[in-house]
Amino acid sequence: MGLGRRITAVAIFGVICLSQWLCLANGAGGVHHNATAMNSRRAPQKLRCNMYEGSWVFDDSYPLYDSSKCPHIRKEFDCLKYGRPDKQYLKYRWQPHNCNLPRFDGKSFLKKFKGKQIMFIGDSISLNQWQSLVCMLHSAVPQSTILEQGSEPITNYTFQGYEVSVLVFHSPYLVDIVEEKIGRVLKLDSIKNGATWKNIDILVFNTWLWWYRRGPKQPWDYIQIGNKIVKDMDRMEAFKMALTTWAKWINTEVDLRKTKVLFQGITPQHYHGKEWNEPEVTNCAKETQPLKGSTYPIGLPPASHVLQGVLNKMTKPVHLLNITILSQLRKDAHPSSYNGFKGMDCTHWCVAGLTDTWNELLYNVVTS
Ligand SMILES: *[C@@H]1O[C@H](CO)[C@@H](O)[C@H](O)[C@H]1NC(C)=O
Ligand SMILES: *[C@@H]1O[C@H](CO)[C@@H](O)[C@H](O)[C@H]1NC(C)=O
Ligand SMILES: *[C@@H]1O[C@H](CO)[C@@H](O)[C@H](O)[C@H]1NC(C)=O
Repeated sequence: MGLGRRITAVAIFGVICLSQWLCLANGAGGVHHNATAMNSRRAPQKLRCNMYEGSWVFDDSYPLYDSSKCPHIRKEFDCLKYGRPDKQYLKYRWQPHNCNLPRFDGKSFLKKFKGKQIMFIGDSISLNQWQSLVCMLHSAVPQSTILEQGSEPITNYTFQGYEVSVLVFHSPYLVDIVEEKIGRVLKLDSIKNGATWKNIDILVFNTWLWWYRRGPKQPWDYIQIGNKIVKDMDRMEAFKMALTTWAKWINTEVDLRKTKVLFQGITPQHYHGKEWNEPEVTNCAKETQPLKGSTYPIGLPPASHVLQGVLNKMTKPVHLLNITILSQLRKDAHPSSYNGFKGMDCTHWCVAGLTDTWNELLYNVVTS
């Protein structure tokens, strides 16, 4: 094979890796490879693997850690502690169609990111994923003390000996809410917190859950766009404006040579059985199995298309941590009533559980 052909392959590899695809050029897929499989991976057409396309398979080597040994799980997510009787939801591994995900290696993560900071920014779904990453790392180095710092809106956990900080920044809309004379104003074109975010090495953003909140659950009184103040507006339009503000902020303020930026796909909820062809079901209370296959009956939530549209227009490469479909399939992975406040929760996810897979995907993105 000529040099020209090899250079072509490398160029394809480079382009694909900068976009939202993952490449496995060297058989890094781990345990399952053999000579045939590795050879076929070298063929250019096999270089591309969309790790977000796949299905859930039973794997008895999961979960990745024993959640009862993780000292940091909040009562919202600690399903086993609050009596969840079925355990099979812990035993699924995400299997992409065209490649294998390397198993999460907490020690190598901590060594690779020694002295660095990773921050999850967004609503309680970010908190959920942050908890899972803390447990995954803690289980790899249980003897390492975790230094707990920070104050609202930041929580900062640093693994001593590695100086890796895993942070969560509570910002449900990403854009600002400011207390003014007229009341609390949601400012769709302002991101003041960005000053803190841009010095971090890895940023994982997420916002969606709060955009349709109304009544007492709505934490603002007015919306401001430029000089215009309104009482309310189309919420999807507001969501799109805020994402656009965020995208502009990334384009102008963040140095992507120093900071890796990921945006998390829309997280699904499971309150409407008709979405997965069980119309009589109204929550996730009795769900103990994922859906089979690779697609969700009602398809992607409309907000996904808005998010994709904004990301497509960005001039800088931001990775979409596209967990939407794989999470839609996991109607079994929510706490339901097995949490410390006994409410029915089909929005968040048990820790250990699905969010560990999000972090395995994240690990793959930031280490490849
Ligand atoms: C090696 O991998 C190829 C392609 O995935 C598969 O068809 C074959 O059965 C595997 N061979 C062994 C010995 O596992
Ligand atoms: C998090 O804590 C570490 C260790 O004290 C510190 O070095 C780092 O600056 C903190 N990060 C932020 C954003 O406060
Ligand atoms: C995410 O991945 C799925 C499956 O590959 C794809 O259909 C979808 O368009 C992707 N993007 C978004 C925003 O969900």
